[in-house]
Amino acid sequence: MKLVSRMILLLATSCAQGVFAQTPLSAEEMSLVQSHLLANISTGQHIFQKPYGDVVFTSMPGAVLAASQAPTLHFSQDYFFHWMRDAALTMQATLLIPDVSTDIYKNYVLFEESAQHKISVPNEETLGQPKFNIDSTIWEGDWARPQNDGPAQRAIAFIKIAARLRAQGEQDFVDQHILPAIKTDLDYIASHWQVPTFDLWEEICDTDHFYAKMVQRKSLILGALEMARYNDTVRVRLYDARAQSIEQSLAAHWQPDLGYYTETTHHLSEKGGGLDVSVLLGALHGTLSDTDKWLADEKMQSTVAALRAAFSGIYPINQGHIDGTTLIGRYPSDYYDGDHFNYGNPWVLATNALAEYDYRLALYYTKLGKINVTATNLSFFQQLDHALIAAPTVIAASQPEFSALIAAFIARGDKTLQTVKAYQTTGDDGTRMHFSEQIDKLSGEGVSAPDLSWGYASFITAMEARRKAVSP
Ligand code: NOJ
Repeated sequence: MKLVSRMILLLATSCAQGVFAQTPLSAEEMSLVQSHLLANISTGQHIFQKPYGDVVFTSMPGAVLAASQAPTLHFSQDYFFHWMRDAALTMQATLLIPDVSTDIYKNYVLFEESAQHKISVPNEETLGQPKFNIDSTIWEGDWARPQNDGPAQRAIAFIKIAARLRAQGEQDFVDQHILPAIKTDLDYIASHWQVPTFDLWEEICDTDHFYAKMVQRKSLILGALEMARYNDTVRVRLYDARAQSIEQSLAAHWQPDLGYYTETTHHLSEKGGGLDVSVLLGALHGTLSDTDKWLADEKMQSTVAALRAAFSGIYPINQGHIDGTTLIGRYPSDYYDGDHFNYGNPWVLATNALAEYDYRLALYYTKLGKINVTATNLSFFQQLDHALIAAPTVIAASQPEFSALIAAFIARGDKTLQTVKAYQTTGDDGTRMHFSEQIDKLSGEGVSAPDLSWGYASFITAMEARRKAVSP
């Protein structure tokens, strides 16, 4: 056993919480992340305006900017929109921020209710529209349509918001606005999950996207539970049946020869159709509980090992991380950089997903009380601690190796977040902890969309997973 492993083992068996008292983001840093995220959400007082040709769009309260800026000198893309997917993920993270006003959630619901009722041009469906102007009208420019993970993410956000509002005595608002909106989205998902759709990176049209199906499955299962509250047995049956069909279809994404789940089933060598971080994001965003079997699925773990291995060599800044931390991007052959499409970079939200996965596995195994190392996930565990895991085995909670691995998961998650944090920038307002969508693979500078809401959301969900992992 390597010395370092032995040290982790000793520390872990003595006092897990004490060892991890030093959090990768301090309370002050977390509150900066939270305020940068909230700054992208419009309210009645916090209004955005967007000049566009001859018109000026004014935000409807509840609009969530994907990022804080329209195009600039080194950023040719326009993220000054309400993207359905990004907005839903941002809202789900907002629910984890303490003391957020209920109005933020109500505004979001009313914005989406208004967006759902807009009429699309012929041959397009409003529910599959990926992005909306900040006044809730549809953005009708050229784009990858439909993107059917969006309504699923939105339904998940609605269901979580409904639970929050109900607990605050807002049943009428839930019944009047949220319930019909959930049904609209989930009836659409139930009838469209096999229809060709673009992936979450908006590049490949296919019938089978791992990420989309994971979040659609989750939305339908949660939706069925929600419908059961209202005795809507027809929908309960429909949503449950569709969720089961989706679950069955996921197995086809496993490629035994490659050793990973591919994002699509038909475009494996196109852009992100093969090895892609969206599979990991599917596990994080699409699981239903801390003990959902998809988290510790051996094939998922093999996929994550393949991602880490694939990215470790392609970004020069990774060579400078003395603790071996690997920053990862969307998929290895990516060349989207938000500007001239020169080369791909590590993404904040993708790398933070690695940290979140480590924390969630620490909690998963702590609850399960054993760790199964198999021939399929061996490489994943060897990446974590090569000296400790030599061959497939079952490790019981009573064995010292068990606590050592739990500690190693948390320690690696911490190193990952600390490394991402080191690439923070200072905003024009003088505050720290600003991040762009990507980190330049050569210089380490923030590139592409500034202040990406989803990037901030990924810090919040990773730190929430950490909180649960250290105090299970
Ligand atoms: C591009 C990303 O690929 C997509 O996933 C995201 O929704 C939009 N940017 C907006 O952030």
